[in-house]
Amino acid sequence: MNFIELTNLRQSVRRYSDKMVEPDKIEKCIEAARVAPSACNAQPWKYIIINNSKIKDMVAKATYDKVMSFNKFVPQAPVIVALITEKPNFMSQVGGWLKNKEFNLIDVGISAEHFCLQAAEEGLGTCMLGWFNEKKVIQILEIPKNKRPVLLITLGYAEDDYKQRIKIRKDKSVIACYNKYSFK
Ligand SMILES: Cc1cc2nc3c(=O)[nH]c(=O)nc-3n(C[C@H](O)[C@H](O)[C@H](O)COP(=O)(O)O)c2cc1C
Repeated sequence: MNFIELTNLRQSVRRYSDKMVEPDKIEKCIEAARVAPSACNAQPWKYIIINNSKIKDMVAKATYDKVMSFNKFVPQAPVIVALITEKPNFMSQVGGWLKNKEFNLIDVGISAEHFCLQAAEEGLGTCMLGWFNEKKVIQILEIPKNKRPVLLITLGYAEDDYKQRIKIRKDKSVIACYNKYSFK
């Protein structure tokens, strides 16, 4: 499988089988996430792998409520991964402040995608979740006060009949242009 094939294989999986995820596969995903690039090599992330079913169920319940029910699939996933932003190193903080850029969030996003692409290579499904009750997640995972869980990722084997979807994406000519900005 080449890289383009891998990027197409990765898709948000919202139905999971009961099959447990092998610990070595989780370790490979963590390794892929670890080598991600970051501003000033700050690596401002911490991955909490939640595979204890009690804790996982509590976190899963913090991803939906009666009004916003689209994450109701989350309890099916055998593993949930929480991504915490750590304080960046001094250079990245100064750079971000001077250039008015949220390097932390960019860094975490890149690392998260490394994680998910490796999971896809291992035959695992993932879904990044930005919608969850942050306060509850902080409380459940005992996250220190000055740190934020910015993303959750479900991880597990997709149900047997889960189909590969065609990607709905903007056209290349809309998202990219050469040499100057185009309003296409
Ligand atoms: C930052 C971020 C937050 C997301 N939050 C959610 C979420 O809360 N619930 C969900 O079902 N999908 C969520 N997604 C998944 C997107 O809906 C999905 O990536 C997008 O529709 C493209 O589909 P694909 O991942 O299958 O290619 C999120 C994705 C990202 C990158």
